Amino acid sequence: MVLNLLWMFLKFLPIITTAVQGLRNLTFPNNFKFGVATSAYQIEGAWNEDGKGQSIWDHYLHKYPYLVKDKSNGDIACDSYHKYKEDVKLLKDLGVDFYRFSIAWTRIIPMGYKDSGVSLEGIEYYNNLIDELLASDIEPYVTIFHWDTPKTLEENGGWLNNSIVDHYVSYARILFELYGDRVKHWLTFNEFSQFCEEGYSRAEKAPFKSLQGIGGYQCTHNALIAHSRTYKMYVEEFKISQKGFLGLSVDTAWAEPKTDSILDKLAAEEEMLFSYFYYLHPLIFGDYPTLLKMKISLKSSVQGFRTSRLPKFNESEIELLRGSFDFIGLNHYTTALCSWSNQKFPVPSELDDCGVKQSQNTTWKISAAPWLAEVPWGLRKLLVWIKEKLNNPPLLITENGWATTDSNLDDNDRMNYHTKYLSEVLKAIHDDDCNVIGYTAWTLMDNFEWMSGYGEKFGLVQVDLTSTNRTRTPKDSFFLYQKIIRNRKLIE
Ligand code: NOJ
Repeated sequence: MVLNLLWMFLKFLPIITTAVQGLRNLTFPNNFKFGVATSAYQIEGAWNEDGKGQSIWDHYLHKYPYLVKDKSNGDIACDSYHKYKEDVKLLKDLGVDFYRFSIAWTRIIPMGYKDSGVSLEGIEYYNNLIDELLASDIEPYVTIFHWDTPKTLEENGGWLNNSIVDHYVSYARILFELYGDRVKHWLTFNEFSQFCEEGYSRAEKAPFKSLQGIGGYQCTHNALIAHSRTYKMYVEEFKISQKGFLGLSVDTAWAEPKTDSILDKLAAEEEMLFSYFYYLHPLIFGDYPTLLKMKISLKSSVQGFRTSRLPKFNESEIELLRGSFDFIGLNHYTTALCSWSNQKFPVPSELDDCGVKQSQNTTWKISAAPWLAEVPWGLRKLLVWIKEKLNNPPLLITENGWATTDSNLDDNDRMNYHTKYLSEVLKAIHDDDCNVIGYTAWTLMDNFEWMSGYGEKFGLVQVDLTSTNRTRTPKDSFFLYQKIIRNRKLIE
């Protein structure tokens, strides 16, 4: 009898092991955090209420409405400025541990400039939002800057002028003083590449400048310095009393070689160098990667520039930059196939400096946003890459989501996308020992998707843009995410 039982046990052992393994791979660590994200211009509306100053998005989208696909803007958006209580109710119902939102610089300091006076109503709005969140047991994760540079500062060169660093640091100081007693997670910047390269080199986002091969590098340089000075200030003046953490969100796709050839592998590495390592290397090692510096410097001299188009950090800046974060935020949506390009890019340009051609596999499912293909395994590869190249920093996924053209409530595609990507996160945690501390779905509700207007919807909640009430209705993906958070487990 005993022998029989033992025999049966041994026989079923592999099945039991696989089941336990499977269960483990469906379960999130106890301290893993779940959240959703939004940004001020995309949801708040009330663009000129209660003394708010204009940002470059207010200004340029009024001036050039045709730049946005449906000629819309963020004047009203989801009207969260008035409906934040309803938003917090939704968040509570969703069960998230944190809510990542951004503060509109010009709501706090209407003129943008250091010492130019604050708006009490603007300050009050975020006080109320933060208090409402905390009363619902939701931690506020605050992005200090999500692209909405004050118009006044832009008139002075914006991120191309290094004097903006002082203005930014002083704005950040005001936020720490006002809200740091309750906000314990700060993100200095959201996605350098989008507001710098697209904003100052390729004229694809506000302020629509096309200083190819120069503007993006200069903007990023100033923003990196602003980040490191803010980190120093936070550590020296606030961290001990406020006990918070400061990081930033950097975006990247995963760069996959198009074929197994050595050349394509090199192309993919080059793409990771220019699209990601470029931004994070300074924060970890103090300076831009050597290969990147050499390549841009060489190209600049061939092109007749007296110095490299990539600005240089001085010794004290390098000192400040090195190690200037408590955690890294990753915005990730998709993967690109990489090969060397024989395409003619403008010279000079960031695209030419990198020289890599990106494409999608024809079998991949493409979302309403043409750049966004569903490639879940790309996230796992990226997480392993980050672990290996960036010394396994605490990594918070600060954005990940799927776009649809309609806002139907039965959003199966979005449910599949989030499930598949979360499953890759679990593999990266359990099988690859990646230090992923949390996940943020982009986004709470359908909102203003920049140059695509309201045509691309990423929300877990539908917003009826035809009603003055901006009625919110949770989609199926909302309830799926709710279940995942509640069980801290993926549903098979
Ligand atoms: C990146 C940005 O941070 C966010 O503002 C945007 O809406 C999403 N990704 C989707 O494109």
